[in-house]
This record gives sequence, structure tokens and C-alpha cells, in this order.
Amino acid sequence: MATLVHKRIVLGVTGGIAAYKSADLVRRLRDAGADVRVVMTQAATEFITPLTMQAVSGHPVHLHMLDAEAESGMGHIELARWADVVLVAPASANFIAKLAHGRADDLLSTLCLATEARMAVAPAMNQQMWQNAATQANLIAVHKNSVAVFGPASGSQACGEVGPGRMLEPTELVELTTGLFTSGSLEGLRVVVTAGPTWEAIDPVRGITNRSSGRMGYAVAEAAAEAGANVVLVSGPTMLTDPERMTIVRVSSGREMYAAVHEHISGCDIFVGVAAVCDYRPKKAAAQKLKKHADTMTIELVKNEDILASIAALAEAPFTVGFAAETENVEGYARTKLKEKAVDLIAANDVSAQGSGFESDYNRLLLVDKHGVIELPRQHKTQLARTLIECIAQKYHAKGAAQDSRYAHR
Ligand code: C5P
Repeated sequence: MATLVHKRIVLGVTGGIAAYKSADLVRRLRDAGADVRVVMTQAATEFITPLTMQAVSGHPVHLHMLDAEAESGMGHIELARWADVVLVAPASANFIAKLAHGRADDLLSTLCLATEARMAVAPAMNQQMWQNAATQANLIAVHKNSVAVFGPASGSQACGEVGPGRMLEPTELVELTTGLFTSGSLEGLRVVVTAGPTWEAIDPVRGITNRSSGRMGYAVAEAAAEAGANVVLVSGPTMLTDPERMTIVRVSSGREMYAAVHEHISGCDIFVGVAAVCDYRPKKAAAQKLKKHADTMTIELVKNEDILASIAALAEAPFTVGFAAETENVEGYARTKLKEKAVDLIAANDVSAQGSGFESDYNRLLLVDKHGVIELPRQHKTQLARTLIECIAQKYHAKGAAQDSRYAHR
């Protein structure tokens, strides 16, 4: 079951008499567990005050594109990234037209162009305006861009006319917004994710590490939380800020990561190892900074324990997913890894490909398991992680169903 608990909603309010219902909508969205930030157009402020919306949302309202104070807090790009959903209610005919044509002449329309979040509009306008061919064409265009259109309802209007164009009631909008998170596919499940590189100390100031940014692992953890899971993210050293809605365990070395994962694994349903754990660590880290004397120097390395394989080998192993960063023969090596580590699924990517993989916001993945191969094309890591989580959820539930039917036949 999908829910709005911990969901982050940007509510856009445009100019229309139905804006008076937006305050109630905010309250109901928050009652359903959502965190709501309000963006108002200039026209909307003629119908309801920003102060009212601030009071009901519990946060300052965003009004202007070029507001230095607001931009220094959560600027429009951060807001666009922050959102799980951008819901515009009421959405005026003018706003829908802007959305259809990709215009960006105020904060709300710019944010809509900049976001990767799901989007929905709740139209509210005079029935003639609604039925106008231009509005209908704009709606088709908006819908093609995967923007959900909620309503409108039919009935008597503020202008005295009767017909379609009334904004849906806040309770209906909350229900439809909840429905956008169709997934809920990991509701109630416990998921442990590793992310980032590890740091294997040579001495107090030097160490061995790699170029993993942690972005893919964090995106996977966020997508799992968004799908309703209870997430523990075990992260190596990264520059990323801690995601909300999950337990974060920060570690440094591969050994620390191993210990943290095993500490949190009991009762875990799904383990996703995204971390680029260093394969080797110095056998002994020097207590003091090493001095340069000789022309050459040898550091003896010992192998780090394979966290992923150790989880897959547990008597009560969770559904186990590994990542594989390859520079050639991606599918072949992924298949080998699938067998050697005895995991349920390998998500492999070609890190030599331009513009994806390490240090990039974009990635592509090849999912390899005993059933075959699924290709997830290059896309932003946030979106890719969501698709990956849906595939994992599907495979997790299918495995459970297969096991259940095996027991039933005994
Ligand atoms: O063997 P390779 O390092 O290519 O395997 C990558 C996968 O194994 C990733 O999922 C990574 O998180 C995991 N791994 C691990 N512990 C290690 C090495 C890799 O969990 N020591």
C-alpha cells in the first residue's frame, strides 16, 4: 500500500478562487505524513496570503525566482531536487499552457522544468476555459510529458456557471497524490544498502581509496525509502549530505563497513551492495605519518573480506544484490560475479563509458540474474535507482512466491 509518510511534496498554487482550498490541502497532506513546501505564483497571492500557507505548511513560502534570501536557503534548483512530487493545485489555464510549452518565467514554472519528480496538476477554471480547444490541446501535451491530471470536477462554479472546471476536493487530491507512489513495493521491508568508497589507511594521513562518489548508492537507498522500505545506509566517506528518512551509518574502512553491515543485517529482507569496497588494505597501518627515506617503498596489502558474498552466504540470507563496475565484457563478468558470489542479482555498468558511472550524475545498468538480462538505459541516477528498486522489488516478491509454492507442494 502506498502512503505519503515521509514523502516530500512541493505544492504549487496558482491564481484561481480554488486557491482558498489549498490551505486545507496542505493540512491534509501533512496529516497523511507528507513534508510540504509551498510555491505560490504572484496571482495566487491575490486569493490567499503566503502567511496562511506558511502557517499551515510550517515553512516559509517560496514566491520569487530572484529572492536572494530564499535562494540562499532552499533555492529553486534544490527545491526541484528535493521534491518527490510537484503538485500544482489549483492549476490555472494559464499555468497549464505554460507547462505545455515549457515556459519558465516565474519560480513555479521554472521549478517544474527543473524537476525530475513526479508531477500532477489539479485544474481549476471556468467551464468555458476548460472546454476551450487550446486548453484541451495543452492538457494533452502536458499529459504526454507524464504529468498526471487530477480532475477537474463538474458542478456549480464561483462565476455562477455550471460545468466542468472545479478543482477536486482536498481529500480526493490527497488520495490521488498517494496513488502516484504506486509502488509502495517495499512497504514494511527492511533494506540495507552500502554506498561510497572505503578508505584503507596507510598511515594517519594517507590511504588507499577509489573514485566512487556514493551517488548511486545514496540514490538506491532513497528510492528504497521512497518505496516504503525501512532503510539502513552504510556509507563510506563521501561528500554527500545524509539523506533523510533512513538510518545512516558512516564508516571509513572496508572492515568497518563489514562490521556495520553485519550488525544491521538481522531481519533484513534485501541487501544491496553498491559500495566500491577497496579489494585490499595495507596489512598494517602506521601509527605515525611515514617519513620518506628510501627511493622505493613496499606496502604489503591483504585482501578485504567480501561483504556482499558474506551476506549471500548467511543461513538466512536476504535477497542479495551486488553491483559490478566493469570496463569491458560487462555481461560476461557480471554473470561470473553472480555465480561466484552466489547473489540473486548483479547490476553491472561500464565505467569506461563517457558520461556515466563514477563521479557522474548519470548511469546505465545491465541487470543480470539467472532469469536473463534487463537493460536499464542511461538516465539520471535518481530515476535509474527508482527503476532498479522496482525491478528488485518484483524479483524479491517473485522469489518469495516461488519459495512459498515449493513449500506448498511438499
Ligand atoms: O568483486 P567486485 O569488487 O567487482 O564486486 C563488486 C560488488 O561486490 C559490489 O556490490 C560491492 O559492493 C561488493 N563488494 C563487497 N565487499 C568487497 C568487495 C566488493 O561487498 N570487499
